[in-house]
Amino acid sequence: MADSLIIFDTTLRDGEQSPGASMTKDEKLRIARQLERLRVDVIEAGFAASSPGDFEAVKAIAAAVKDSRICSLARANDRDISRAAEALKGANAARIHTFIATSELHMEKKLRMTREQVLEQARLAVRFARNHCGDVEFSPEDGYRSDPDFLCRVLEAVIAEGATTLNIPDTVGYGIPELYGQFIADLRRRVPNSDKAIWSVHCHNDLGMAVANSLAGVKIGGARQIECTINGLGERAGNCSLEEVVMAVKTRRDHFGLQVNIDTSQIVAASRLVSQTTGFVVQPNKAVVGANAFAHASGIHQDGVLKARDTYEIMRAEDVGWATNKIVLGKLSGRNAFKQRLLQLGIELESETELNEAFARFKDLADRKAEVFDEDILALVQDEQAEQVGEHFHLVSLAQRSETGERPHARVVFAGGGQEFMAESDGNGPVDACVRAIESQVQSGAELLLFGINALSSGSSESQGEVSMRLQLGGRVVNSVGSDPDIIVASAKAYLNGLNKLRAKGERVAAQG
Ligand code: KIV
Ligand code: ZN
Repeated sequence: MADSLIIFDTTLRDGEQSPGASMTKDEKLRIARQLERLRVDVIEAGFAASSPGDFEAVKAIAAAVKDSRICSLARANDRDISRAAEALKGANAARIHTFIATSELHMEKKLRMTREQVLEQARLAVRFARNHCGDVEFSPEDGYRSDPDFLCRVLEAVIAEGATTLNIPDTVGYGIPELYGQFIADLRRRVPNSDKAIWSVHCHNDLGMAVANSLAGVKIGGARQIECTINGLGERAGNCSLEEVVMAVKTRRDHFGLQVNIDTSQIVAASRLVSQTTGFVVQPNKAVVGANAFAHASGIHQDGVLKARDTYEIMRAEDVGWATNKIVLGKLSGRNAFKQRLLQLGIELESETELNEAFARFKDLADRKAEVFDEDILALVQDEQAEQVGEHFHLVSLAQRSETGERPHARVVFAGGGQEFMAESDGNGPVDACVRAIESQVQSGAELLLFGINALSSGSSESQGEVSMRLQLGGRVVNSVGSDPDIIVASAKAYLNGLNKLRAKGERVAAQG
């Protein structure tokens, strides 16, 4: 029986720390359910003490998800740890993850604590956490840039207090695979009680090596847990990407010799859900989940793949959840077929009303678009659920006119707070005209930082457009998405979605009735 590698997903905690990626409780719950379907071993559901919203999200996930262990982050103090324990009460299997920085830089400049104070606080925190939970993870933040002699003392002390997992973060993504792997191996060799805990790696991607470093931590260092996020979501350049490490360990089992529990056929659905929820679009050439990951454009490659697929493919698209027959439904498809497809995509709508409304949206889309793909279905369910959770603004209708040599003009009707608004404007282009029209009523003053557009399903011109935007207002940043066969409509939806997210974050965004 091969050794197991624990997959610890931190999309909902470290991933969410990415600017603009913050999620509502319902969005987190939906992602947590998908992570459970993916058979992630541990879900870091949030940082319970950081805000009442995070506390409620951890609590809701602990109550709803039963097949994965649920974890909350906590700083190394009694209040944080008590909040984490409280939020995790309803979990089938719980973990408290406590951390304190151990690098000279962090201790001196950030914590303003001496080594001895940090050592004592780490020890007390783990002792306190163990009184609340049998499964306690300890992380020395900025561990990879810490003095190894001091780190060994801290790690030995926390194991003696009962830490069951030791996680060694490369917090700033400074590692190089051989060096990081050797760092873990040395710690394990030097800490006398190292065999009493599971060792874990947590790598950031600042030099683009988070996946390589994590794998080296496993192969060279002997770690048996990897901390990662869907699509590599995370602060700055992100975290180690779940889909990449999992497929590396599976595809190169000859090299790693490790067993992972993940149901890889759920990977693409998880990737799409996280991307649509956070507005962080997946680049087309991203390994495993990018739209081009299994596309063969050159004639030589296409010829090879048709003759024998393994000439150019090392994984099968369907093994990671890219459907082989991606045309799923059309306008003649019935409610049952639609429901069936939702279930196959891992989507369980909570009520018959939700199902009926999603089906009505599907019919409307199928009227406008001959072939409805999985991506279209995921997008419409996303839209549907956003409305269910009471999004403030939503688009009612849009008309726009553009002609070579003429200044484009848009008329947008949208609803918000029980009122309907009609707004018109010219603009440099049709998207600009739409945004200006909406702003003429809302007057949020939001700044549009990024605008992107992608074909949602196939690359054909028939595809729905998925528009992603990044808005900034008063120092807050949100990412938003909107999809529609008409890319101007998709842009208006994305803009309104961004305004909703700014409202949810407490900005004063209201239409001037
Ligand atoms: O990157 C980091 O150091 C972290 C810790 C809190 C584990 O996310
Ligand atoms: Zn991190």
